[in-house]
Amino acid sequence: MSMQTLTARISGVGMALPEKRLTNADLEKLVDTSDEWITKRVGIKERRVAAEGEWSSLFASKAAADALKMSGVPADQIDLILVATSTPDTVYPSVACLVQKELGAVNAGVLDISAACTGFIYGASLAWGMIRSGIMRHVLVIASEINTSVVNWKDRDTCILFGDGAGAAVFSAHATQGEGVLSMKLGGDGAYGSLLTMSNSGCRPFPDVPGRFILMQGNEVFKQAVRNMAECGLSVLEQAGLTAEDVSLLIPHQANIRIIEAVAKRLNVPEEKVFINIDKYGNTSAATIPIALCEALAQGRIKPGDVVVVDAFGAGLTWGAMAFRWA
Ligand code: ACO
Repeated sequence: MSMQTLTARISGVGMALPEKRLTNADLEKLVDTSDEWITKRVGIKERRVAAEGEWSSLFASKAAADALKMSGVPADQIDLILVATSTPDTVYPSVACLVQKELGAVNAGVLDISAACTGFIYGASLAWGMIRSGIMRHVLVIASEINTSVVNWKDRDTCILFGDGAGAAVFSAHATQGEGVLSMKLGGDGAYGSLLTMSNSGCRPFPDVPGRFILMQGNEVFKQAVRNMAECGLSVLEQAGLTAEDVSLLIPHQANIRIIEAVAKRLNVPEEKVFINIDKYGNTSAATIPIALCEALAQGRIKPGDVVVVDAFGAGLTWGAMAFRWA
């Protein structure tokens, strides 16, 4: 394998979701909202909710085990486990440590990533860099969230949006040029941090907020999401020397159907090439991309040779995109 041509491809994917469903009709009983409003304004019909005792590490481990199985990579050959999560079981041990124990990935380094909804793309980018440099061969990237543990069930602006779940992908060294990861772009702007904050989630107190909750200025976040996702989506295409016509599937972060439609329009990708599952799971934060990737493969919507663009946005603010050719 020569250094010049070494890249990373996804060799396996997996996903795991809680059994329990929370429908819009269920939410109508909790807050002043309606199935019609949520469907029209956000595109969600139901989301999954973890049961008591089900934490991020459980779904992360299940999704990871499936991804390993598909890849055929033995657990002891994983060099690094990255877990993107904003809702870890504990800050330490990290979720990555808990997954390592569960899988028996005894030779892996372990690290959680804090980049909110963009976390999976940050993890995938680190995996690509480690593999491309020749330092590592197999990196397991997981995203797992129990968003319902940080939702204020009295706040109709946010409680209708989020759900729980996990997705995972194994990135493996690949020597064929033009296959696997083609390009990536990461970004962020801390100046907009206050638009989307998790109160009481660190050492800073929030005396006026009675809990650990997602606080969001939805309208402003919406505008930033469309602008930055469109920009970084275009950037990864340009870097890879591709145009919108080359894209077989766009997998955008699933936060709002109207954000997805606006981004697809700006990228010039037609509706039939955009993957959407927000109706079933809501916003699972960092997990939306790997869950969607998993479902797109299962549905035969990604075939060898296809160009796939993943594109996400989240609190921080953070954003990122990656283009790859399925191998
Ligand atoms: N049910 C019924 N009505 C509602 C609800 C609800 N759940 N929520 C708000 N409304 C009302 C408002 O009160 C308002 O009423 P008014 O006109 O009488 O004042 C009206 O609906 C419109 O409210 P807006 O806030 O302007 O609604 P908007 O169309 O912006 O939709 C939403 C709100 C869904 C939150 C949208 O702004 C959005 O999706 N923002 C982006 C969210 C996002 O992308 N988050 C991503 C990252 S998450 C992460 O990183 C952890």
